[in-house]
Amino acid sequence: MSTFNIAIAGLGTVGTGVIRLLQSNADFIIARTGRRIIVKAVSARDKKKKRDCDMTGCDWFDDPRQLAQLPGVDAVVELIGGAEGIAREVALSALKSGKNFVTANKALLAAHGAELARLAESTKIQLSFEASVAGGIPIIKGIREAMAANRINSVRGILNGTCNYILTRMQAGKLSFNDALQEAQRHGYAEADPAADIDGHDTARKVAILAALAFGAEPDFASVEVEGIRNIAPLDLHFADELQHRIKLLGVARLTEAGLEQYVGPCLVPQTSPLAGVDGALNAVQVKGDFSGDLFFEGQGAGAEPTASAVVADLIDLARGHFSPAFGIPAAQLKKLKAVKAGSGQMACWYMRLQVVDKPGVVADISAILRDEAISIESLLQHGRSQTESVPVVITTHAASAEVMRRAIGKMARLPTIIGQPCLLQIEN
Ligand SMILES: NC(=O)c1ccc[n+]([C@@H]2O[C@H](COP(=O)([O-])OP(=O)(O)OC[C@H]3O[C@@H](n4cnc5c(N)ncnc54)[C@H](OP(=O)(O)O)[C@@H]3O)[C@@H](O)[C@H]2O)c1
Repeated sequence: MSTFNIAIAGLGTVGTGVIRLLQSNADFIIARTGRRIIVKAVSARDKKKKRDCDMTGCDWFDDPRQLAQLPGVDAVVELIGGAEGIAREVALSALKSGKNFVTANKALLAAHGAELARLAESTKIQLSFEASVAGGIPIIKGIREAMAANRINSVRGILNGTCNYILTRMQAGKLSFNDALQEAQRHGYAEADPAADIDGHDTARKVAILAALAFGAEPDFASVEVEGIRNIAPLDLHFADELQHRIKLLGVARLTEAGLEQYVGPCLVPQTSPLAGVDGALNAVQVKGDFSGDLFFEGQGAGAEPTASAVVADLIDLARGHFSPAFGIPAAQLKKLKAVKAGSGQMACWYMRLQVVDKPGVVADISAILRDEAISIESLLQHGRSQTESVPVVITTHAASAEVMRRAIGKMARLPTIIGQPCLLQIEN
């Protein structure tokens, strides 16, 4: 039987998961490819570290860049992480040596995807990255292969399990942000340093990759507008519930006549939307094709097994001899789309929470600002009188542009009767 030989750089959560999967499901993989996938060589930092997988027969290399030089290796799998440094060097050395390159590294793809795709095509080999977005959900192949016949105008999703877990627990368990974050860390859903997740940058990288695939463009991570979930209060989740919505950290990419909008931010989604029901650490992606209609993908967005499933799916494609342009069209034809501010292509409805001094005339001042900006109110919620000196007021609006809403919120924040920074969230339909 012919073999498909691989070398793995990085033996952490995902790397060891890939080795376990290849061993555990070897028979299925042979049945589906007609070939045995063999791990010829591995590399990580610490050779002595005990690892949760059997590496008998694998050659060890301290320097992962050497893996690209090994004769007989058909693909190098990079599972180290990071946009620069060693991960990028492994990618460049593999692609320049004519080795297929498989990675789960969203940071690398978001920053250097176009360069790597061009390099892969110049040496007629494959760059594969199914595991880089939404873990076990086959969203890369879903867009690139299954939706290849469609014009796609928007992609949006819940792309960070840590944030979704925190928001779910703040809603369902009535926890504060900090308590929900600590619980996520105890369960292994959040890193010791959770900044990349909760400040939205992890989601932004995935948005840039999905936009590139959906719109045939170079990944443009730098122009993704990013807001995380640190400023969401339990109060917002409860008001959202009263308005029959849920708050989710969404990553959105939209192609409008004005250009490419990419943003990450907490948004209200109607409880009737499938996104509203995506709870805990799950991920989901919604893609609209002009012929397919709305498609909805949901599943585990991280973890050793789901991520290994996506990495090995890429390896199976290679073992079968299936090749696709990395971003769906030849790399030379990837466009540089004009980046435009979120909301410049279409109007949206909005949620505003203001902490106001509890005295007559305050709501009139707010209404005057909205009137001057031609923003029409859809609903206004205020419960009871304050035991202290201020109360929260929530206003939802009819459609207005992001620019107008930000200007109005800026004016409100300067009113002497408004305490602290108002919270402004888009309501996604
Ligand atoms: N974890 C997930 O659920 C998940 C999901 C989707 C995508 N990903 C992506 O998958 C990649 C790997 O993530 P992970 O969670 O498996 O990371 P991890 O557990 O931190 O493992 C990283 C591995 O890289 C090795 N490494 C670090 N620097 C190295 C160097 N200079 N030379 C050789 N090896 C080096 C480490 O070696 P030692 O073990 O010796 O320290 C470790 O084995 C990342 O790009 C991540 O974004 C992860």
